Amino acid sequence: MPITTCVFDAYGTLFDVTAAARQAADGPGFEALKDKWPTVAGHWRLKQLQYTWLRAVADAHADFWDVTQDGLDWALDAAGLQGDQKLRQRLLDLYWELQAYPEVPDMLKALKEGGMQTAILSNGSPPMLNGAVQSAGIGDVLDDVLSVESVGVFKPHARVYDLVPERFNCARNEVLFVSSNGWDAAGASGYGFVTAWVNRAGEPMDRLPWTPAHVLSDLTSIPKLVGL
Ligand code: LAC
Repeated sequence: MPITTCVFDAYGTLFDVTAAARQAADGPGFEALKDKWPTVAGHWRLKQLQYTWLRAVADAHADFWDVTQDGLDWALDAAGLQGDQKLRQRLLDLYWELQAYPEVPDMLKALKEGGMQTAILSNGSPPMLNGAVQSAGIGDVLDDVLSVESVGVFKPHARVYDLVPERFNCARNEVLFVSSNGWDAAGASGYGFVTAWVNRAGEPMDRLPWTPAHVLSDLTSIPKLVGL
């Protein structure tokens, strides 16, 4: 079945989640982060994701913004920076205006010009996602921004992936789902989407019962992948 709909994970896929810690470390007054920012960024992301999975299985949903703050607090604590309220606030502010990866605007434009339906499907809350979309200037090349908040559970729960066929009235195998998170690409494959895992860091494949259909090093080739 030809692909009619291209759906993207947000954080780590379209938006660079390491940008907040990297940018903060460059700014005056945050010298404490200079050497520690890669570790802080890594722990922040890992804890944020772990908390989503744990909350999903424990049926204890919380807004992704709360989970993002909890992950950051763990990461700052681990780095011995838990008392630095100014740094905490700077990192949180930057999370609302994360940089998009450089190829994102042209790639989405090519999909739209080729007649594809395009959307984000993310754990992010609608205000967070709107902030990132506005800041990246990609609102006009997306048909919709779908958030887990409308179903109250995090990925990879099937209720989240259901949002796509419901919104676009399409079959699961008409959807190309693109994620930089191996577990998300795997979960979406199990759901029945055609999937692309964007493995920028050259990580090993997750050992899960499902594997992505495509493995890419960035998003440049997505239009070609769907036949444009
Ligand atoms: C998201 C996270 C998983 O955007 O990256 O849903």
